[in-house]
Amino acid sequence: MRTEYCGKIRIIHLKKIVTLCGWVHKIRNFGKFIFVDMRDCTGIIQVVFESKNSSVFKKAITIRNEFCIQVRGIVKKREEKNKNFRINTGEIEILSNTLIILNTSKSLPLDYINQNNNDDSRLKYRYLDLRRFNILKNLKIRNKINYLTRTFMTKKNFLDIETPILTKSTPEGARDYLVPSRNHHGKFYALPQSPQLFKQLLMISGIDKYYQIVKCFRDEDLRADRQPEFTQIDIEMAFVNANQVRNLAEKLVKNIWFNITNIKLHTFPKISFAKSMKKYGTDKPDLRNPIEIIDVSSILKNKKFMLFFNLSSTQNNRIALLCIPGGSHLSRKSIDVYTQFVKKYHVNKLFYIKIKEFNKRREYHSSIKNILNEKILDKIAKKSNAKNGDILLLIADQEHIVNKSLGMLRLKIGEDFNITKKNEWKPVWIIDFPMFSKDKNGKFSSLHHPFTAIKNNYKNKLEHPFDTAISDSYDLVMNGYEIGGGSVRIHDAKTQKKIFDIIGMKKSIQNNKFSFLIQALQYGAPPHAGIALGLDRIVMLLTNSKNIRDVIAFPKTTSATCLMTNSPSKSNDSILQELGIKVVKKV
Ligand code: AMO
Repeated sequence: MRTEYCGKIRIIHLKKIVTLCGWVHKIRNFGKFIFVDMRDCTGIIQVVFESKNSSVFKKAITIRNEFCIQVRGIVKKREEKNKNFRINTGEIEILSNTLIILNTSKSLPLDYINQNNNDDSRLKYRYLDLRRFNILKNLKIRNKINYLTRTFMTKKNFLDIETPILTKSTPEGARDYLVPSRNHHGKFYALPQSPQLFKQLLMISGIDKYYQIVKCFRDEDLRADRQPEFTQIDIEMAFVNANQVRNLAEKLVKNIWFNITNIKLHTFPKISFAKSMKKYGTDKPDLRNPIEIIDVSSILKNKKFMLFFNLSSTQNNRIALLCIPGGSHLSRKSIDVYTQFVKKYHVNKLFYIKIKEFNKRREYHSSIKNILNEKILDKIAKKSNAKNGDILLLIADQEHIVNKSLGMLRLKIGEDFNITKKNEWKPVWIIDFPMFSKDKNGKFSSLHHPFTAIKNNYKNKLEHPFDTAISDSYDLVMNGYEIGGGSVRIHDAKTQKKIFDIIGMKKSIQNNKFSFLIQALQYGAPPHAGIALGLDRIVMLLTNSKNIRDVIAFPKTTSATCLMTNSPSKSNDSILQELGIKVVKKV
């Protein structure tokens, strides 16, 4: 139907007769001339209809925005004053002698010109939203990353193997999406949270190097970087250690980054989980922000301070601060804003110490000056490496509260003070995660998934107490986003059963859910390890998108609904009956 794409025509096509297909983007009617910006997936070109050519002009009068049209005409150079250097085709235009209206369009429920659309209408009319170039641009980058990944992995001799979607629960910390079985009354498949167990079974099959770009499904609370169905670049290798997996993943990520941004990333640093929590309050540190959390617990460790800060000696406490360069000018009102901010993380009080210079002498202005004498303030300032003109923001509370609140405050301050270097890429491996986390009832659960091996020199820690056991797992974090996670796997049945026992999994559940794995591990399972990279998050970063929805063609809302198809939706009674399901009212 067409000879060229709208966005591809240039001065070299001058005087050529072309046929174009696309949509009416914008119309300007000047009486004798009608100018139409015509759009297809490659860009926009100006088409001119002259009143001299009355038959085509009459038709052009009837077209409206978003009509689907076919145009034939000659490529002409624009007059110098009419050139538009904001678009690639701005030097030329098409003088049209034929116009076919392929389809009319109702007026759009979305505003393309000002892009003043709320999220709900964008999602409801997603097929129209996708006509916008910025989303299309993201999907093109996503396509390139897919291509780069497949090329890289194929060159490294990885086999792309599909794994089942209708399967059994693969615990990754979220709830499963269940699919009822018609043939097996009262039974359900689970959609995979990841292909974790299948990729391990492939190693037992001798596949050696597996990868897959694969959909995963998790019923969990959604955020700007989380979708209920998302895509992983899933990788598993046999007879390797953690370093070999990390090297491979690092090379792949560097390759993607170089081909998309032209930037060569340096070797990714490694930080232990414990250090990351201490310095950044999180296991997903954004290292573009140089501010670190400084621990001053050792300076303020006596009874008087414990009492003042209301800290109980039976809890795990931490007293720590952030030093904000040049922040001593902060007004009481601005400090109040930060106090309100940390209150969201259950902090009672945010204390400040302003470090000023007066008559060439250091002075402290502080909300806790009455309790901290000059000598202690000096010690705190020294430990924080603080300079005159800085402000210290201090929190004393339970360790997890201090970590979370100062970690979040660090990010906010980084933005507010323009400290976070927005144009940099800061990847980091987080390693040495604890094997288990313990809830307030003393129940252990796996911090990664329960198929994660313990680090070699911690093997004896599988005997009680388990708190200090360290796993051989790793997360890859880029600019504060977790873009990948993996581990060395348990490859013997005995240890696997032991882990299930430690996390309190009943024998009946072990048998019911994982007997196939336990069995498989008994047939010469090789040592193996792997990783999964979050494709959507990688695309998000590389397209500078603030929300994961902007890199997925048909995403869900934060409450996991699709506003376009209206799913999830009710099923009809006969189908439910066939599946043996009765919907009861939610209490
Ligand atoms: P994990 O659960 O860490 O590991 O997931 C790997 C990566 O997938 C991405 N990711 C998500 N992206 C968007 N929306 C979500 N809801 C979501 N959940 C996770 C993240 C994350 O780092 N089977 C293991 C991997 C392994 O051990 O090999 C796993 O799935 O970028």
